[in-house]
Amino acid sequence: MSNVVCVTGGSGCIGSWLVHLLLERGYTVRATVKDLNDDSETKHLQGFEGADTRLRIFQIDLLDYNSIVAAVAGCAGVFHLASPCIVDRVQDPQKELLDPAIKGTINVLTAAKEAGVSRVVVTSSISSITPSPKWPSDVIKNEDCWTDIEYCKENQLWYPMSKTLAEKSAWEFAKEKGLDIVVVNPGTVMGPVISPKLNASMIMLVRLLQGCTETYEDFFMGSVHFKDVALAHILVYENKAASGRHLCVEAISHYGDFAAKVAELYPEYNVPRLPRDTQPGLLRAKDASKKLMNLGLKFIPMEQIIQEAVEGLKTKGFI
Ligand SMILES: NC(=O)c1ccc[n+]([C@@H]2O[C@H](COP(=O)([O-])OP(=O)(O)OC[C@H]3O[C@@H](n4cnc5c(N)ncnc54)[C@H](OP(=O)(O)O)[C@@H]3O)[C@@H](O)[C@H]2O)c1
Repeated sequence: MSNVVCVTGGSGCIGSWLVHLLLERGYTVRATVKDLNDDSETKHLQGFEGADTRLRIFQIDLLDYNSIVAAVAGCAGVFHLASPCIVDRVQDPQKELLDPAIKGTINVLTAAKEAGVSRVVVTSSISSITPSPKWPSDVIKNEDCWTDIEYCKENQLWYPMSKTLAEKSAWEFAKEKGLDIVVVNPGTVMGPVISPKLNASMIMLVRLLQGCTETYEDFFMGSVHFKDVALAHILVYENKAASGRHLCVEAISHYGDFAAKVAELYPEYNVPRLPRDTQPGLLRAKDASKKLMNLGLKFIPMEQIIQEAVEGLKTKGFI
């Protein structure tokens, strides 16, 4: 049992990388998907080494508690990744973002507590750290910084609001019910995509290569490779001394820095010239993810993230 873990959102872009690395490390994995009959959610997972004997796929709906109970029963650990990741405008923020993120998290944590799971790793985001306009302008943002919910409401920033309220609910639940949770807060995640569908952050890169001038003012704080995010989850799960939130970026940077690097590496694409400072007041920092670095994570640099992401997009025919 100690080797059996559940990954919610196992078919997603980050989830697929995590399932892959967990299988490689000898874990028995229960991956959850939204639709068991959809090949685009299951086939790439079944192709992983070790999947034939150590992977089981479960269908869950984050709002259907009983579906989650079945996936989590008998697991020693849970990685809770499933949550809608949408940065574009939505019609119904409550239904499309807030409910699945917040109620979904509480459903997963409740099922984990009931099943006697020893540790849950919750995938939060830098979107529960930024936008935070009241953070002191001379202090580098860190795990003590929280997204400003009022600012999100005023500016209709429903994704950061969903991630912030979901993470806050997770901490409250853990404290009240005595469940061991650890949180990872990844930046904009990119790299070679394993799953057949692109997530929101890879769509940002595709759009940039096509000339989109959006600067993601309230959404960007730095980039990070898929593999490093998956490794961060495993590190905080395996290292019992790990606690609290873990900022997970190769560096704190502006989207303008990222776009300039993409333009330099891929001059043949239509990458727009953006201002250097695209995130007002955000202080840049190289070794921002100190907690994960102290656990042994060596972050893949932005240049390599971009190269592997773009080459992967080309190979798979997305660009
Ligand atoms: N991408 C980033 O830059 C980034 C940065 C920080 C944090 N994160 C977080 O990382 C996690 C994974 O994101 P990702 O980038 O890998 O995006 P993704 O590929 O869209 O994965 C999201 C996963 O959640 C599942 N899901 C969504 N709503 C669900 C529901 N109602 N019931 C059951 N499953 C549901 C999706 O299933 P389907 O595929 O069937 O829809 C998918 O497997 C999310 O919590 C996201 O907020 C992402």
